[in-house]
Amino acid sequence: MTYSSASQVVRQLLEGPVTRPALLHWRRQQFLSEAGFGSYFGMFRTFAQARAWLPASPEFDHAALAAEYADVRTKKVFAYDYPVMWWLDRAFREGATSVLDIGGSVGVHFYAYRRYFEMPRGLSWHVVEVPAIAAIGREMAALAEPEAGGLSFAADLERALDGGDEIWIAAGSLQYLENARPGDLLRRCGVRPRHVLLNKLPLHDGEDYVTAQNISANCFAPVQVYNRRRFIEEIEARGYSLRDQWQVLERSLYLPGFPEHCVPAFSGLYFVR
Ligand SMILES: C[S@@+](CC[C@H](N)C(=O)[O-])C[C@H]1O[C@@H](n2cnc3c(N)ncnc32)[C@H](O)[C@@H]1O
Repeated sequence: MTYSSASQVVRQLLEGPVTRPALLHWRRQQFLSEAGFGSYFGMFRTFAQARAWLPASPEFDHAALAAEYADVRTKKVFAYDYPVMWWLDRAFREGATSVLDIGGSVGVHFYAYRRYFEMPRGLSWHVVEVPAIAAIGREMAALAEPEAGGLSFAADLERALDGGDEIWIAAGSLQYLENARPGDLLRRCGVRPRHVLLNKLPLHDGEDYVTAQNISANCFAPVQVYNRRRFIEEIEARGYSLRDQWQVLERSLYLPGFPEHCVPAFSGLYFVR
C-alpha cells in the first residue's frame, strides 16, 4: 500500500460516526492555527455565512500574502501552467493583444510565462486584484520598466470587465470572488472575450457549496466549490465552446467531516467564443 492510499484509509476510518466529532474538533483547531495554512474547513451556503463563522481578517487584501508570489511565482511555472501557456501562445499567434487576468496577483503569469514564449508587441495585460496586492504589483511593474510596460493593475472588477480584453485568464482565483460565476461575469461585461482560460478550479460532480480556507498570515477566505456540469454549461450558454480541459493534480480539497464533498483534483478549462 502506498503512503497516500494508507493515509486515505486512515482518513476514512476517522470520518466514521464514532471518531468524526473528535476529528472535526482537532481539524478545526488546526485550521485556525498557523499549521492550518492551505487547509479547508466548514460547509456553508454563502460567503456571508462563512465570514460570520471565520475569525475577522482582511482575507486576501494583505500585503504579506504577496511575498511568495513576488519572490517565486513571477519566475517559475508549474505543471498546471503548461496548458494555459499553450493556449495563450496560440491566442497571441492568432492576433490577440489584450489580457484581463482576474486575481493575477502581482503579475505572476505575465512575468513567468514570458520566459517561455514571445508576447505580442503592444500587449496590454490588465490584472484585477485586491487593493493591497494591486499596489505591490504596480510598484514592481514600475521597477521592471520597460519589460513590464504593458502590465497594469486595478481593483475594480466591474470596470475591468468592460475593458474589451480579448483573453480572460483566471487561475486559482474565481473561487475566491463573491458573485463571480463566470457565466455572470460574461453577461456583465461589455465586449465578450474570445478566449477564456480558467485554471486551478475546485469543480466536482456534487452540488455547489462554500467552504473556508486558511490562506496564511492569520488570513482566511470563503471559497466557492462548483458543480462541474453547471459551471461549464453557464459559460457555454454565453456562446462559448469548451476546447480543452485538464486536471490539476497539485491542487485538491479535503473537507474534514464531509468526505463525499472532497475534490481530489482541481480543474483547468479553455473556452473559445
Ligand atoms: C491563490 S491566488 C492565485 C494567484 C495567481 N493567479 C496564481 O495562479 O498563482 C488567488 C488570487 O486571487 C486574488 N483575489 C482574491 N479575491 C479577489 C477579489 N475579490 N478581486 C480580485 N482578486 C482577488 C488574491 O489576491 C490572489 O492573488
